[in-house]
Amino acid sequence: MKDISHCKIIHIKREASDKGSLSVLESEESIPFDIKRIYYTYDIPSNALRGGHSHIKQHEVVIAVSGSFEIVLDNGKEKESIFLNNPAKGLHIIPGIWRELRNFSTGSVVLVFASDVYTEDDYIRNYNKFLETI
Ligand code: TYD
Repeated sequence: MKDISHCKIIHIKREASDKGSLSVLESEESIPFDIKRIYYTYDIPSNALRGGHSHIKQHEVVIAVSGSFEIVLDNGKEKESIFLNNPAKGLHIIPGIWRELRNFSTGSVVLVFASDVYTEDDYIRNYNKFLETI
């Protein structure tokens, strides 16, 4: 069983000026894996439930680049809810953690950096199967 506390908030550098803010992520510096894929979700209804899966090997870093939402992390025994609303913070989700994203604000954009290319073989989308694997 994975330890939820190994899913850590990553503090992303922020260059703020009167022209606005700029944040930078560099693979070896701020993301704890080599980035193989970037994806983002948007146009999300506030009542949508996203996620609802765990990964076998893949690591992800999730950032609320716009708006806010809640991520519920679940290791099969304990749950922890994390609220993301700051584009200068990311959440590193390790493999073996079930995640659900919910309570999306209007206009929220979920940016995800992943350690691997998309392959459905790395997903567990059935919660009972997830419980069997831990
Ligand atoms: P899904 O993993 O269910 O999204 P979320 O976890 O945000 O709720 O993915 C939605 C659909 O998009 C599903 O049919 C798989 C597809 N998809 C890709 O084709 N490539 C990708 O990199 C991802 C993340 C999803």
